[in-house]
Amino acid sequence: MQSDVRKKLLDAFTDSKDEFLSGQYLADLIGCSRTAVWKHIEELRKEGFELEAVRRKGYRIVKTPQNVSADEIRLGLKTEFIGQNIHYEETVISTQKIAHRLSMENAPEGTLVIADEQLNGKGRLGRSWHSPKYTGVWMSIILRPNIPIGKAPQLTLLTAVAVVQAIQEETELEPQIKWPNDILLNGKKVTGILTELHAEADKIHSVIIGIGINVNQQQEDFPEELHPVATSLSIASGGKKINRAALIRAVLTRMEKLYLLYLEKGFEPIRLLWESYALSIGKMITARTLTGSIYGKALGITEDGVLRLEDQNGKIHHVYSADIELD
Ligand code: BTN
Repeated sequence: MQSDVRKKLLDAFTDSKDEFLSGQYLADLIGCSRTAVWKHIEELRKEGFELEAVRRKGYRIVKTPQNVSADEIRLGLKTEFIGQNIHYEETVISTQKIAHRLSMENAPEGTLVIADEQLNGKGRLGRSWHSPKYTGVWMSIILRPNIPIGKAPQLTLLTAVAVVQAIQEETELEPQIKWPNDILLNGKKVTGILTELHAEADKIHSVIIGIGINVNQQQEDFPEELHPVATSLSIASGGKKINRAALIRAVLTRMEKLYLLYLEKGFEPIRLLWESYALSIGKMITARTLTGSIYGKALGITEDGVLRLEDQNGKIHHVYSADIELD
């Protein structure tokens, strides 16, 4: 089914809430015959949508598929460009890998690569990211900002703010950010963000932002070694199932808003939001860098997203990359 027809159809079902939409209404909307509408409905059914059809009333969606198809994400997505071009595959090695390829093939800014399962999800600092089927959000977004390379980490911080806000919107939870970009609930990690670049000299071609959110895993779904450090939105909500597609739409919407704000007003408004959600600011922490550990008070982040740390002798350190541990 062509994607613009699909989008019109799904938008109409979203706007209608639970009301039935008649075949004739849909035919007029899409500009096709009622038989063609019926064929589109059949295709949606093949993808796992459950549609109720009642004579003289029409159709309505009663259930969306278990996988997060591109169509389900489009259902009600109101962004201008982030997530408007969606590349979905059920199982991939890593969404980052696909996003890199698409960005080299000139995919439009805002392209979303999303999968229901990653066989070799990539984490920061060469680690792997556990990405089991149907339970989490594993996605990468391609951005093409006109900024110097040194400012790229700002986009990671911007993404962390977007994810915190989306989680707040879709659940009752109040996540916090641990510098640089881990999102925590009850002290355990629920989201990781990995930013990678295509750049030449000082020019960024594209930024690939990978976001992994643990959504519906239960404790036993995590490998043993992750039990002390990882959690999911569902665990933190007392076992409640969270709608992944709605969460994805919320992240994309928040990201676009913040990104446009960033392009217009710079990093300062994002920095303030980031600090308001940050767990470590004002606290004593240990920053483990590649060259050693620094113990001190986290003062905040700089304009470039670098952590400012004051050690016990009053010396201020600028930490570019580290794992941090709270006292
Ligand atoms: C971290 O180590 O904290 C970052 C984890 C990033 C995981 C996401 S899942 C979607 C995207 N694809 C990947 O292979 N990694 C990122």
